[in-house]
Parts: sequence; structure tokens; C-alpha cells
Amino acid sequence: MVEGNRPWDIGRFLQTLVYFDVIPCLGWVMRLLQGHEENDGKNEPGGKMQVVLVAGATGGVGKRVVQRLVERGYKVRSLVRDADRARALLGDKVELYVGDITKPETLTSKMMANVSAVVCCTAVRVQPVEGDTPDRDKYYQGVKFYQPEIVGDTPERVEYLGVKHLVQAAVPYLSRSTEIIFDFAAPSKDLPDIWGVVDDVVMGGVSESGIHLVGNTALFAGNVSTANSGGFASVRTRNFESPLSLTGYDGIELRVKGDGKRYKFIIRSDPRWDGTAFSYSFDTIDNSWIDVRIPFAQLVPVFRAKTLRDSPPIDLSNIYSFQLMLSKFEYDGELNPKFEPGSFALQVESIRAYGGMTKPKFVLVSSAGVTRPGRAGINLEEEPPAVRLNDQLGGILTWKLKGEDSVRESGVPYTIIRPCALTEEPGVQALIFDQGDNIKGKVSRDSVAELCVQVLEQPKACNVTFEVKQAQGSDRLPQWEQLFEQLQPDVSFCNYETTT
Ligand SMILES: NC(=O)c1ccc[n+]([C@@H]2O[C@H](COP(=O)([O-])OP(=O)(O)OC[C@H]3O[C@@H](n4cnc5c(N)ncnc54)[C@H](OP(=O)(O)O)[C@@H]3O)[C@@H](O)[C@H]2O)c1
Repeated sequence: MVEGNRPWDIGRFLQTLVYFDVIPCLGWVMRLLQGHEENDGKNEPGGKMQVVLVAGATGGVGKRVVQRLVERGYKVRSLVRDADRARALLGDKVELYVGDITKPETLTSKMMANVSAVVCCTAVRVQPVEGDTPDRDKYYQGVKFYQPEIVGDTPERVEYLGVKHLVQAAVPYLSRSTEIIFDFAAPSKDLPDIWGVVDDVVMGGVSESGIHLVGNTALFAGNVSTANSGGFASVRTRNFESPLSLTGYDGIELRVKGDGKRYKFIIRSDPRWDGTAFSYSFDTIDNSWIDVRIPFAQLVPVFRAKTLRDSPPIDLSNIYSFQLMLSKFEYDGELNPKFEPGSFALQVESIRAYGGMTKPKFVLVSSAGVTRPGRAGINLEEEPPAVRLNDQLGGILTWKLKGEDSVRESGVPYTIIRPCALTEEPGVQALIFDQGDNIKGKVSRDSVAELCVQVLEQPKACNVTFEVKQAQGSDRLPQWEQLFEQLQPDVSFCNYETTT
């Protein structure tokens, strides 16, 4: 059915141009005239897709992990016990969740939603027997030895049960092999700042659509009309502030419930409003939830709905925007066989990337020496204080080892980092990795924090436990690839495979 001519709505046309900053100054002038505040340009997702939860974010290593993750463009969520202290320490770029790993009821699904990796830097509180003062606190233990004691919770509760609670709370969120990009089941509140409408009004048509949060989904719905030679409705993200990298993934997975119609998902690695786009058509099943996989290899390069024969492939390292569309047309004038003018509705629960290599999703900062208390052939005189004083410190290393075990047994891809004595020395030094729990030495908290961030991007660090210390007499930065290359996966876990 072809509809006739209807009056064209220039107001909506201008709104679209303004929303997407198609004519940059126009948007600014309109916002000024309408008295709207300037958009801060913070369009999700952008940069890294991952939301990383840092437990122990107020600690010596944890605060540095947070800082480094923020600098790399991760979205950081911090599990803290004192929100005011944490805010003062960590700044306002991180989300704070108040919780306590010894109290599993505080490790909520809200805190875990969207999280794609956890870095755990928690520790039982150890302080000098004489009391904690700024010039004698535990951060100076690496410089000068003070007789330590445990204060507050026991090592069993923090180092073992706490870590176990945290990893168990994370399992449902970390055992998928896909990476979340948009999770409308737990959306950030700025959906209207990210997704906007692009209907055929931009070409004189009168179709009308919108996107709204309904239940745990985003509902793309409206009315598509062929009047005025129109025939499409769509919603598109504004360009991500920093382009998204999907390098290493095979494609996009949409979880959708539709109405039996055929839709398009469009990806752009060209920041221009009207440049080359990469499109994929997919069919929905009326009133049924389905997972639609969109392999990057099957994306069709297009300019509007015309296919481009000689287009370079999509640049997966620079993805600027996504678009969902219902159109009368397929490509090059072909008609969409499932198109009917009139109302339509497509619910979207999530947009994920699939097919990436498995990378560590739970990083635990443990300690060198955890297997040494009671080990045959150990000369305690030569061991670091934590090993010598393990019994006096409530079995701290013994419980740390049990905490490690709970991570190894969880089924989540993990890395367990066992630093030697931690120091406050600034900067990242050359490092030595070892396995088998035999090395002694020291390493800066800055180095360990950087290491935590590095392993998140390292498939070779998956299901690996290793010790780390500073290489003496070298001012070279760590050669990350070489260091990770030498690591062996933990024997009983090296055949781990993720499930979707
Ligand atoms: N010190 C060393 O020489 C050495 C050597 C090897 C390995 N390590 C290990 O390296 C890791 C990092 O050390 P660090 O010096 O950065 O530790 P840290 O400064 O003592 O920080 C510990 C963090 O854990 C948090 N925490 C403690 N109990 C908690 C609970 N029940 N729930 C939630 N958070 C809790 C603390 O929060 P609050 O701020 O609220 O207290 C703090 O943020 C630890 O596992 C440590 O054992 C240390």
C-alpha cells in the first residue's frame, strides 16, 4: 500500500539535525534559544565497553587500580565501606557501591549488573602493634619493619570467606563469553542522551518513532508511513565520545522481541553523519525473545540504502554509532519482503559483542608466600614477615590461599597475582614474574596496580597464578608481552572454556 502526500513537519526535521549535531552551530544556537543546558558530550558507551568493579578501592593498590582504569577509559565501579571517604579519595568519575565482602547480602545484583570484570584488592587490616601513625603505618612496612597485628575482622572472614562471597556474587555476571555494550535491563539513566530518532522526516517523510525504557528493555516503536515517498523509521546513537573498539570480536549479538518484521542494525566507523555505514538485516519472530547474531563479516557496506562495492572494510577499532531501523527498502531499491506500513514495535534487552578471546574476568591480588607456611624445606629465618608470622597473624596467608582456591574453583576466567612485599615507591618498575611461590623481594603498589589493569586485556593471563617482584637494577618498563608469554595456566584449570 502506498500512501499519498501529507504535510511535512520541518520542526521534527530540525530537531533531528540539532540532536545529532549535524550542523554543529545550529544545535548550539537552538539550545541557547530554548534555554537548555549544554550537553556535556558524555555519550555512552564510548572507549572501553567494560564496567570494572574494584573491591578494596580505598586501599593502597585499589585506589591506584581505580585511577589507572579511569585513565584508560573503563567505567569503574567501586565497592567501598565508607562512601564519603571513597568519594574524597577516588573523585567523581567512579560509581560507588557501599558493601562489605564479609556480608554477602551487601553484594547486590545492582552492584554486579553490567560488570564485565572484577579486580579484588581487599585485605584484612594489619597495623603495627604500637598503633598506626602516618609515619609508621603499614605502607612503610616495606621500608622499615614494625611488629604487625591484625585489627578488626579475622583473616578467615576477609581473606577467605569475603573473597569467596565476592567471586560467587560475580559468577552469574562473569561467565558469559559476550561483552555487554548496552544493557537495557540495567540501563544508565541517560538513554535519551544517547539514542535519538532519525525518521524519514529527514527526507520529507512523515513516519514517527521513538525509543523508551519499558520494563527491562528499550522499546523502539512507532508508525512507519510511505507518504511523501518516505518509508523508514529509526533510532541511532549519537557518536560515542571516544569511539568503541570491537577489535578481536566476531560480531554483535542483539537480544530482541519483535513483531515478525525485518529490521536493520547499522554500525558506523565513520564519524560523519551521512557517510558509509555497515548494515545487516534481521528477521524477528512475533512476540518471541530471540538472540540475533550479526557477524561483522556479513555486514553490507552502504551509503544510505545503496550498497558500496569498493568500500574498505569496517574499522572495528573505531566504532562511532549504532542504529536500529525499520525500512520499506532492503538495498539498491529491493523491497523489504516483511514490510507493512503502520505501527511496529521492537523491544531490545541488550546489545553485546561476541566471539572475543577469553580474558581474565576476576583478578585477585593475593600474596607471595601463601603456600609457604608449613611447607617442607622452608627456612623461616629467611622468609618474609608474613610467612614467619603467619600463625600470630591469624593464619593470614593460609586463609589467603583458601581465598585463591575459591577463585580457581569458581569457573570464571581469573588471574591471581601474588606480589612480594609492597612498597610505596612511585612508578612502574621492570618486573619479574615467577610461578611456584618461591621468590622473595619487593614491588611497588603502582606496579601491581598497572599489572591488574594489564591482565584485563591479556588472554594469556587467563587462569594463571603467579608471583611478581621488582627487577633490581633495571630502569626498563615491564615488557608485558614477554612477561605474560612465560606464564603457564594452572594445571587443573587450563582446559577452561567459557559458555554463553
Ligand atoms: N603489604 C604487603 O607488603 C603485601 C604484600 C603482598 C601482598 N599484599 C596484598 O596485596 C593486597 C593489596 O594490599 P594493600 O596494601 O593495597 O591493602 P590495603 O591498603 O590494606 O587495602 C585493603 C582494602 O580492602 C578493603 N577492605 C577490607 N576489608 C573489607 C571488607 N570486609 N569489605 C570490603 N572491603 C574491605 C579496605 O577498605 P577500607 O578502606 O574500608 O578499610 C581497603 O580498601 C592485599 O590483598 C594484601 O594482602 C600485601
